Amino acid sequence: MAGTQKGPRAPAGAGAAAFDLGAWLAQLAGAPPIVQAGACVLRSRAESVPAALLATPALRELVGLMTDVMRDAPGVGLAAPQIGVPLRVFVAEDQEERVAGLPEGAAKRKGRVALPLTVLVNPKLEPEGEAQVTFFEGCLSVRGYGALVPRWQAVRVSGVDAEGRPVALRLEGWPARIMQHELDHLNGTLYVDRMLTRSFATDAELPRLGSMPVDDAKRELGIEVEPE
Ligand code: CO
Repeated sequence: MAGTQKGPRAPAGAGAAAFDLGAWLAQLAGAPPIVQAGACVLRSRAESVPAALLATPALRELVGLMTDVMRDAPGVGLAAPQIGVPLRVFVAEDQEERVAGLPEGAAKRKGRVALPLTVLVNPKLEPEGEAQVTFFEGCLSVRGYGALVPRWQAVRVSGVDAEGRPVALRLEGWPARIMQHELDHLNGTLYVDRMLTRSFATDAELPRLGSMPVDDAKRELGIEVEPE
């Protein structure tokens, strides 16, 4: 076990060195790998993007890189800490062709609809209403696994894009889930912190579990099903 840490950590901006995006980009050789669970950057609160970084080539380059890494993975969302950058930035996209290729019943149940490329810098998120929905989700930083995670059914997300232009969205269903998952990354939270632990499953079982009604999957996994 590690030694005891003395005193509180210095808050970001109060003596703590701010992340140097320019230096990070300069040392980059090729596409950055997706950081995996266990890495400190995935468990720390990311820093706010300073106003001086908005609409700069560096921030545009970061967003471009993140978009490429997300599409190559492929995934429907990626937060900056997932490529080792501790800044409050995420990208999300669920392409029309991908959604159209899903089994209709499952896509409908999950409220999975296409989401155009969305860039959020310094985002805020608020649930709209109290309704929650539970489905299997996974994470590019927890490769090979998935689990049932309860999320708000509808949310309001706001922030700015890489150019500093305001973004304000009301989303429900799968796009709302993506936003909550990515925003969690900026606060050092992974879906495993919110999952129904008994539902944790490997890629070998996920396609089967994910294609059945959630209550059936819950029963099979020994998770209590709430009466409607
Ligand atoms: Co993730």
